[in-house]
Amino acid sequence: MPPHWLIRCCRCLLVGIGSCAGLLAHDPITTRITYSREIVRIFEKRCFSCHGEGGSAPMSLMKYEEARPWAKAIKEEVLERRMPPWGAVKGFGAFRNEEALSQEEVSLIADWVEGGAPEGEQKYYPPKISADEPRVAALEGNRLLVKDTVKVPGAVRLIGIEAASSSDLASALIVAEQPGGSVEPLIWLRNFKAGWKRRYEFRDPIALAAGSRIRVEPSTGASIVVFFRD
Ligand code: HEC
Repeated sequence: MPPHWLIRCCRCLLVGIGSCAGLLAHDPITTRITYSREIVRIFEKRCFSCHGEGGSAPMSLMKYEEARPWAKAIKEEVLERRMPPWGAVKGFGAFRNEEALSQEEVSLIADWVEGGAPEGEQKYYPPKISADEPRVAALEGNRLLVKDTVKVPGAVRLIGIEAASSSDLASALIVAEQPGGSVEPLIWLRNFKAGWKRRYEFRDPIALAAGSRIRVEPSTGASIVVFFRD
């Protein structure tokens, strides 16, 4: 009986040369971490919103056959903390839903790749794999579209921001200016890519007095919606 990895390679060749690039040179399986048990669950939470059907990323990672050819790149991206991208400068504003992978998740992914990136048994797949945009439940409230500068409608508490852009956005700073002139940093979008739509939930609501203004600098055509409560 040929070794397991050989069978897998042959199956892959049948699926198509394109998806095989990463497999031809691959090593025997030396890990117990599998796609169907651990990895798909991490990807579901952290990756599928973009790397799924209709997502903004160039490829899907939703199926093992789709993810496997990217294994080496996946390891590199998560170790370098380039994926999942946050789209904003960390430390500028404080957010509840910073989606960084935990150190444990990074290690699981890296060990899985190093161990030959096995699929694992079908029975371990989660019952339903979905690519829903992670819900930021608390962002239900009033919405205010910020084109350039907008005045808040009375005293408000900001709870979050939704940003979307139809073109790549190198940098956009969003601040709130209180009537007295003091300026609160809200978020600094950075390397925000075309097609993304991301929600950022403030760790603590930001209280603004009536007459405060919210500003985008520069106003680059991004669509910024601020969520607030009275
Ligand atoms: C907010 C959207 C988004 C999320 C979430 C996301 N990605 Fe990506 N990813 C992208 C986009 C867009 C690209 C295309 C290249 C770029 O813009 O950097 C990409 C590219 C990649 C690449 C290819 C890099 C290369 O070598 O070209 C890998 C691998 C990758 N992502 C892995 C992941 C993994 C693993 C996760 C989850 C842990 C993840 N991504 C989460 C948007 C996302």
